[in-house]
Amino acid sequence: FDFEDMPWFPKRIQDIDLAQNVLRYGSALDADHPGFKDPIYRERREHFARIANNHKYGKPIPQVQYTQEEIKTWGTVFRELHKRYQKHACKEYLENWPQLVKYCGYREDNIPQLQDVNIFLKRKTGFQLRPVAGYLSPRDFLSGLAFRLFHCTQYIRHSSDPFYTPEPDCCHELLGHMPLLANPKVPGILYKSWCLTNNLRYCFGQLYFFTIEFGLCKQNGEMKVYGAGLLSSVAELEYAISHPEKISRFDPNVTCKQECIITSYQLGYWYTDSFEEAKEKMRAYAEGIQRPFGIRYNPYTQSVEALSN
Ligand code: TRP
Ligand code: FE
Repeated sequence: FDFEDMPWFPKRIQDIDLAQNVLRYGSALDADHPGFKDPIYRERREHFARIANNHKYGKPIPQVQYTQEEIKTWGTVFRELHKRYQKHACKEYLENWPQLVKYCGYREDNIPQLQDVNIFLKRKTGFQLRPVAGYLSPRDFLSGLAFRLFHCTQYIRHSSDPFYTPEPDCCHELLGHMPLLANPKVPGILYKSWCLTNNLRYCFGQLYFFTIEFGLCKQNGEMKVYGAGLLSSVAELEYAISHPEKISRFDPNVTCKQECIITSYQLGYWYTDSFEEAKEKMRAYAEGIQRPFGIRYNPYTQSVEALSN
């Protein structure tokens, strides 16, 4: 295998600064985005895009002064989702809530600051956050995971539709992802295996999408949700749990062929018999992939080394 043929990928944690391809939105909204015709919203988005684009690895994430309207939107999302979490969220998700309230300011009347969550996460699971202006390319997103960097949007959805937004926003990151990312039972192998293979098989984008973003699992015989895209959208959460015929058994070889839909509901969802089963299936799938070179992560230098097989 010729290492010269290997496509570029970040080898040191600082290289992530060079892997920031935002695929959609950012500060340029499409005509079907609920904020498209709102000049104030668009200007606000430019502000957030500047923060993200100026970010360099290791810098603290700037605090944001959210407006009254933004806090109101957050409050609505927060309140309505909370009514549903006890019944529908998996237990790994619920476990960290008391700490998020205590250390990160999770409240109905307060949008938590990414930097506070960043410090908390680093202590809990070693994950760090990095602001991003919009929907990142799957490849760049997964590359971040290899270094336990999680790209996070900081702007909030448009106030006209709090229950579904066509792109990730801070409600999605803070309410959907953070409780699970802060749980030591979650990251580990699940994240590691994706990133290490992501440069070889595009499939990992799909597997990430239908587990971490939209996955369900059984707990005590009941179907529970662990996917962040469902845990942050009142409308799609309701939709998924009321359409059991759309939920199939997760099988990496089948699931990886399913199309990922970014701006509207998924055509189907996937479940495992337990949370652990999702991890196990991902690990086995990752191990079965033939790679032209081996790769090793060095935690002391936070860099990856490619090794010939
Ligand atoms: N619909 C989600 C919400 O309302 C946000 C979202 C849009 C999303 N596209 C996504 C989340 C793709 C994960 C993946 O919170
Ligand atoms: Fe997400």
